[in-house]
This record gives sequence, C-alpha cells and structure tokens, in this order.
Amino acid sequence: MHPLDEARLDQAIEFLQTVDTAALLGEIVPELSGEDLAAVVATCELRHAALLVFPETMAEVRDALAKRGLAGGEAKPSVVVRERLSYRYYRPLTELDVRSMRIPAAVPDGRECAIELFVLLVPPGSALDDVAAGEREHDDEAHAALAVGRADRLAISALRSIFSDHGWMRPDGGGYNRREGSTVLYFRDADARSHFLRRIELLAPGDYPAIVEAHRRHSIAPANRLLTLMTGAWTTQAISVAAELGLADLLTTNPSATIERLAELTGTDEDGLGRLLRFLTSIGLLSATDGKFELTEMGRLLRTDADPALRPLARLYGGPYYESFGHFIYAVRTGREAFDHVFGEHHFEYFAERPELSELFDSAMASSASMFGGVAEVIDFSAVRTVVDVGGGNGELLRRILRAVPHAKGVLLERPHVLDEARAAFAAAGIADRCAFVSGDFTVGVPDGGDVYILSRVLHDWDDGLCRTILARIASAMHDHSRLLIVERLLPEDRSPSLAFAWDIHMLCNVGGRERTATHYRKLLAEAGFKLSARHALPLDVYLLTAEKTENGGHAQR
Ligand SMILES: C[S@@+](CC[C@H](N)C(=O)[O-])C[C@H]1O[C@@H](n2cnc3c(N)ncnc32)[C@H](O)[C@@H]1O
Repeated sequence: MHPLDEARLDQAIEFLQTVDTAALLGEIVPELSGEDLAAVVATCELRHAALLVFPETMAEVRDALAKRGLAGGEAKPSVVVRERLSYRYYRPLTELDVRSMRIPAAVPDGRECAIELFVLLVPPGSALDDVAAGEREHDDEAHAALAVGRADRLAISALRSIFSDHGWMRPDGGGYNRREGSTVLYFRDADARSHFLRRIELLAPGDYPAIVEAHRRHSIAPANRLLTLMTGAWTTQAISVAAELGLADLLTTNPSATIERLAELTGTDEDGLGRLLRFLTSIGLLSATDGKFELTEMGRLLRTDADPALRPLARLYGGPYYESFGHFIYAVRTGREAFDHVFGEHHFEYFAERPELSELFDSAMASSASMFGGVAEVIDFSAVRTVVDVGGGNGELLRRILRAVPHAKGVLLERPHVLDEARAAFAAAGIADRCAFVSGDFTVGVPDGGDVYILSRVLHDWDDGLCRTILARIASAMHDHSRLLIVERLLPEDRSPSLAFAWDIHMLCNVGGRERTATHYRKLLAEAGFKLSARHALPLDVYLLTAEKTENGGHAQR
C-alpha cells in the first residue's frame, strides 16, 4: 500500500489501543466528568475506528493487514462513503467502487473492537489520484464509532443532546441502516485534535425515525451554513421590512387575510409581499396553511403589544445600523466607529438631534429592558429607599423596579432630550411623583444619596478610560453601603455560545465601546474602587453584576 496509507492504518491501530470509551468521551464532551461521565460510559462503548485507503489492488490490503497480524473479513460494497466521495469530488457513482471490511483488533481491556476499513481501488492510470490525495490530506472519512448497548428512545435522545448541546460537536446526518438493522447518527467537530474524533458515529440497534429526522434537521452542511450566514443582511432587511409594514399586528387583527388582502392593507405589491411572507415562513417567523399565514411564537415578538416587543429593534437594525454596518471595514481598519464615519457624528449626538430616531432608539432599548425585569426578583430591595438609574434611557427598568418596590423612590439621570419621553412614560404609569428626573452628563457628575445605583447597558458603550471615569463619578456619589448594579452581556471565557460576540462588533461599529468578559469587568471595577460581589444570569445572555465600594472606593481615579 502507499506509505501514507500504511501510516494511517498504524494510526488507527494505535488509536484503538490508546483511547478507551471514557478517554474518547473526555475529548468530545470535556464538560462531562464524575458521575455524568460514568453514566454515559455505562450506556455506550467505543466500537471501531474507521479510515479510507487507496491501494492499487485488494491483495495489497491483505498484505498490509497480514504484516500487522490482522485479518480482514469479506469486503462489502459501501454505499454511504461512495455517495459522499461522489458529492465531494464531482465523480459519477459508477467510477467509485468503494468497499468496506471489518478487521477485529485486540485492545488492552479485551473489549470487542475493530477497524472499519474502507477501500477505494486506485489502479495506476485511473483518474482517481486526486480523490486519494484529497482524502489522505483531509481524512474526511476517518471516524470513531460508539455503540449503544441497550438502545431505547430515551438513551439515544439523551446521548444526542449530550454530544451536540455543548456546541463542540454538531449533528452531521444519519439514517437507518436496513442491512444491519441499526440507526446511525453522525456528529462532527472540525477542530478535534485526532482526525478519528472529527467525526463520531453513534450506532444503535433498532429504527428510530423521529430521532433521525430531528438529527438531520439540525445537520446543515458547512456550505449551506456559510451561505445562510453570508446572506444575513437579507434576513435583517426582510425582518425590518416586516416590522416597517406592521405585518405582525396586521396578521393578528386579520387572522384569515389572503396575500391579496394583506398587500392591499400594506400598500405593497402582491407578488413581492407573497415572496417576503414565504421567506419569513422559511426562517420560522410565520407558519403557512392553505395560503394563509400565522405568526409563530418568534414572529409574535414583532407585535407592538408583545413582551418583549422587538419591533423597534428590527427597524433600528434594518435602518441606521444597517447603513453603518455597510462600512464595518472602516471600524476594523481604524478601530473607530463606522457610524461616525458614515453619519458625520457620534451615535448619541446624531440621535439626540433627530427626535424620530431618538424615540426609536429609546423605545428599542426599553423593549429589551423589559426582559431585565427579573432584577427586582434577584436583588433584595427591602432596605432601599433611593434607586439612581444612570443613563437609564426612558426609564423602563427603573419603572419596573419602582413598581416592584413600592416604598422606593427613583432618580433618573439622562441627557435632556431623553427625559421628556421618560417623564411621559412615568406619568402614564402613574408614578411620576416617585421619580426625580435629572438632566446631566454621567462623565461629569452623578446624583448622590442613592442606596442602589444602576448602570444598565451603559459601560459597553464606552472604552475602558471612559468607563473608569463613569465608575469613579458613581463611586464618589455613593455612601458606604450603596450598591452598584451593572446590567451587561458578558463575553464567555470558554467556548460557550453567546449573543455577546455579535454585540461586541455592534459596539465597535456603532458606538466605540465593547463587550467584556467578567474578568475584564472585575479589573475595571477594581481600578475604580469597587469589588464585584455577585453575578446573576438574566435572559438573552445578559448578566446582572453587583458591586460594592472597597475601602478606598471613590478615591480611585477621577
Ligand atoms: C444603551 S442606552 C441604555 C439605556 C438603558 N439604561 C437601558 O438599559 O435600556 C445608553 C444610554 O446612555 C445615555 N447616555 C449617553 N451618554 C450619556 C451621558 N454622557 N450622560 C448621561 N447619559 C448618557 C443615552 O442617552 C442612552 O439612553
């Protein structure tokens, strides 16, 4: 056999001799430890390592095995690998004679283990050299198989979630193998250290069509995923247009409206609107039956009466931020905001001078602030008399806290143009007399006397230097027992997925701030004379951080 194939065969043998089920699980789901790991090990077992080789004849394979004291059984046609090679290398199936054989391999603890050897014959002069070279380089067919001993629906579903929910391995197709009477689910981790771990095959006796169907739905080929991501701007616009047209409210008040009627109501072209509705259905905002559309749970969030009501955010992302993101490269090249580059002014000044935009921004902030209503549940406000919300927008969060804590009074510090809207909202809620509205600049000074200070989604708008200034202003306004509550997304310090990654580039592009890790906030706070004392998770990957002044707090950098 080709020396590279000989070496790859040796790697497969070594893999089986050095990796057992627990070690394999430790690599693919490192979060598992102790009892959980033992429970999974009791359910499934490393059964084989697979690889694809490219000899000129079958005799070469037998010689290579014999040299290693191994003997292969009968070579059977392999349909799945043949199809995948045909797809990857644009070759007709008839050109690809792929066979597979099982080679029992002794492993140290005496488990029943095997090498699954796929063979594609590449005789001299055949036009398959590029297939062999490509596969030897990328090893796309190499995998390890875990067999489930006593299979049942619950065990397979649980294993499926354990493997894919941590974001390390992603579902990568699967099906029912009629010949062997078993269900096969594939998982992939492109970054795994050993190429045998880049693909994992979960093998279970029996037929589980619903599980296979769910697994396939979650298996999206990388090219499809990339295309979906690259066309994200189209999705932003489609959702923004739906928000602009008020489609969610219209579908609520006209539940059985036809496309023709909806086009009439929105003043749009029937064909154009129909295609927009079809796209919104494909991304899960609507469901369609007999030409009629209904909002899904996600689509309902675009209604004006939703909680959270995300319609203003959809209009903002499809409006000014859409334009600035068109120049995102400027922000990446210079480290400065593309927003200023496009609109000629910093975000907050530009919005302040345009009442319509300012109102849209404040209502967008307020609609998502409604998700932080849990603040009053996780913080003990019983001894709190005054809550100062610094840069509190139109006061949505402060209103929620005052409603939950009837004995408390509020102070809202904001820029003058935001306060009018805030006053009206407090008046409408019947609590205007419980709040003082202070027009000011938090980099210059903050009202004193608060028992609790709030900085909700303010620090992420600014660089570290300005954050230290804002924090120092708050520290000197606080009395010794005041607490500071910070509401922000946190950049994960491990591989967890989070909305914070996207919001970090949003901050870079539009305001000149950044999202930060908990460690980064702890350091910033320490530099301003605070210590981080608690952290609570809120919805939407947002956290509530509680900080208290250290002994020299308020005397740190001013
Ligand atoms: C991202 S918004 C957050 C609003 C609110 N805290 C929330 O979480 O919904 C930031 C707020 O900071 C206010 N702001 C910006 N610069 C300010 C300054 N120098 N002094 C006071 N407020 C300011 C803005 O008007 C805006 O309402």
